[in-house]
Amino acid sequence: MTAIATARLGSDGPRVGVQGLGCMGMSWAYGPTDADEARATLERALELGVTLYDTADAYGGGENERFISSFVNAHRDDVVVATKFAISSDPSDPFKRVIRNDPAYIRACVDASLQRLGVDVIDLYYMHRRDVSVPLEDSIGTMAELVRAGKVKQLGLSEVTGAELRAAHAIHPIAAVQSEWSLFSRDIEAGVVPAAADLGVTLVPYSPLGRGFLTGAFVSADKELGEDDFRRQQPRFTGDNAAANAALLAPVRTVAQAHGATLGQIALAWVQQRAAVHGLDVVPIPGTRKRSRVEENTAATRVVLTDDELALLEPIAGQVAGDRYADMNFTSAGRE
Ligand SMILES: NC(=O)c1ccc[n+]([C@@H]2O[C@H](COP(=O)([O-])OP(=O)(O)OC[C@H]3O[C@@H](n4cnc5c(N)ncnc54)[C@H](OP(=O)(O)O)[C@@H]3O)[C@@H](O)[C@H]2O)c1
Repeated sequence: MTAIATARLGSDGPRVGVQGLGCMGMSWAYGPTDADEARATLERALELGVTLYDTADAYGGGENERFISSFVNAHRDDVVVATKFAISSDPSDPFKRVIRNDPAYIRACVDASLQRLGVDVIDLYYMHRRDVSVPLEDSIGTMAELVRAGKVKQLGLSEVTGAELRAAHAIHPIAAVQSEWSLFSRDIEAGVVPAAADLGVTLVPYSPLGRGFLTGAFVSADKELGEDDFRRQQPRFTGDNAAANAALLAPVRTVAQAHGATLGQIALAWVQQRAAVHGLDVVPIPGTRKRSRVEENTAATRVVLTDDELALLEPIAGQVAGDRYADMNFTSAGRE
């Protein structure tokens, strides 16, 4: 099988496979993992041309960085590893998230991530969430210091507004912005997408499969998700919303049938093509722990949708029941 195409990661960054791999579910959030299959998935992804691997210090309290460390080190020159700081759990309440961007915290986080990953330098270091109490001059300024110190190669931001992205980029070049973007989640098209296109910042859409929903896997998510699955806290997966959202997949199914493709492949092809409409470099990072699915997902980079098909898919996002997070202040849309 030929390797997937490549895309630019930031205006002066490396080229990476046009689809990356989200590693979060391998250690956290989406229920039990077969560790051997997850390791085999990392290897298979690389064979298929996937070179950007996404993790964060928050995924399993550092466990996900440790999990991918041996893979990253076995292929150090061939993979681009992205990790993040800013989110931690409140020790007194594990479901409460604490966001910090202060310089001392950032300096401690980067050293801890370098150690868990077992690398000398992090290829792409993201601020996972903005703490509005810390001026961007301080947080981005500290991240820029990390670049000068050789601990980090490129900088990224996650769930920032268009204005925050522009202000940050003026302090230090931002290579990538990682935000949720999919057939179900299009709020970033108002501010972040045009800012990224203007600045030449690569967009890294997370949850491009709607956390699995867009693959058609859920009809009654309350019954289908395990007790400890993070999606039980997501409004789109709960109560009447889940059934209403499952019904929205009918046009995705129609388009999938026309291409002999899966629903997930159509969802991934849609992200690539919407990016082209905006003149944006894009590297979506679908998450999977299974080799067969990374094969399926990377094959989606070759699916080309017609204008009529894009028009059929256009109304879906406006009809989705439930927000993409229980607390939308946890997203850029809460400040946009
Ligand atoms: N910056 C942020 O705030 C943020 C937030 C969330 C996620 N992320 C990053 O983005 C990555 C991707 O997002 P995500 O994992 O939340 O959502 P996603 O990629 O939209 O969906 C992942 C879910 O879909 C399933 N799946 C994947 N491929 C499939 C296929 N071909 N057929 C059927 N099911 C399939 C996966 O299950 P299996 O694993 O069992 O295949 C998993 O349950 C994460 O891994 C993480 O690195 C970042």
